[in-house]
Amino acid sequence: MSHCLVLGAGAQGTAIAASWRGAGGTVRTLSRRPATADRDGWEAHVGDLTEPAAVRAAFAGIRHAVLTLPLEFDPAVVSRIIDNVIDAAEVELLVYNTANRLPDTMDAPAAFTTRRRAAEALLASRVPTVVLRPSIYLDNLLAPRVRRFLEQGVLRYPLPADIVVTWSSLFELGEATTAALRRPDLAGTAWDLGSTATLDGPGLAAALSATTSIRYEPDDPTQFESSLAPWIGARNAVAVADTYRWVPEHRPGLYSNASASAVALGVPPTGIGDWLSRVNWGRP
Ligand SMILES: NC(=O)c1ccc[n+]([C@@H]2O[C@H](COP(=O)([O-])OP(=O)(O)OC[C@H]3O[C@@H](n4cnc5c(N)ncnc54)[C@H](OP(=O)(O)O)[C@@H]3O)[C@@H](O)[C@H]2O)c1
Repeated sequence: MSHCLVLGAGAQGTAIAASWRGAGGTVRTLSRRPATADRDGWEAHVGDLTEPAAVRAAFAGIRHAVLTLPLEFDPAVVSRIIDNVIDAAEVELLVYNTANRLPDTMDAPAAFTTRRRAAEALLASRVPTVVLRPSIYLDNLLAPRVRRFLEQGVLRYPLPADIVVTWSSLFELGEATTAALRRPDLAGTAWDLGSTATLDGPGLAAALSATTSIRYEPDDPTQFESSLAPWIGARNAVAVADTYRWVPEHRPGLYSNASASAVALGVPPTGIGDWLSRVNWGRP
């Protein structure tokens, strides 16, 4: 297992790095502030994805890399980041984690279209790339606002009750990325992730019900947006909430299709029970 560059070392990058480490590899992460204390097999580089020299320095000597775009939805900035990655990457394989499913139209919110353009640019470039498109992460249910409602017996998520989601998880993302990084033969392909559970809102609430029953209530996207703003900034909160406003009306099936990636990548699906025990869910 080689040294793997993980660009963007937030929740997703950390899950990817942990999976690669668990499989015996070493990692280099890149973020503007040191993401993790340097420790055995884990090197934290400091640099900005928008700066060509920083991205070049991060790629030095790297054969495997993973890109997760940060919370940045300005098309010009995203395109600068992608250009920097394409210029710097001399790799056997780059995995691009779109961090979301991607609708088949450019008439969609920026959180989708910027990621779709990035995927197209990478796949058309000289860099051997595999694109992974996770669904919604179950890990979002660990957010304080969701937990607060769960404690009152209510699962609130900003999607109508009848929207079916094949949920992903950060574990699935890490394991699928590690598997994809070992498959240079898959360069040029794109895969939907989402194998943890396929459920509508009430189905998910039932799956989370332990000793007491939990009922599902769609959250209002505007309230959801206000709850996100203190954490990720008002502009980013609008961009994220816009995806939840758009999907039910325009692509209600975006998250519902079962994914073939688990078979293609040889990663056994994680069930919801596995996820609950691995995150130490306890009783909400
Ligand atoms: N499908 C889902 O359920 C789901 C859930 C959550 C998020 N997302 C999506 O995932 C994407 C990323 O979200 P995230 O939650 O992983 O973000 P995050 O936790 O904020 O992580 C972003 C990482 O990138 C680094 N970073 C930010 N700007 C950078 C820059 N210019 N140069 C270098 N490093 C930079 C950050 O560290 P520094 O700030 O120190 O640089 C951080 O380590 C977004 O597109 C978001 O919409 C999807």
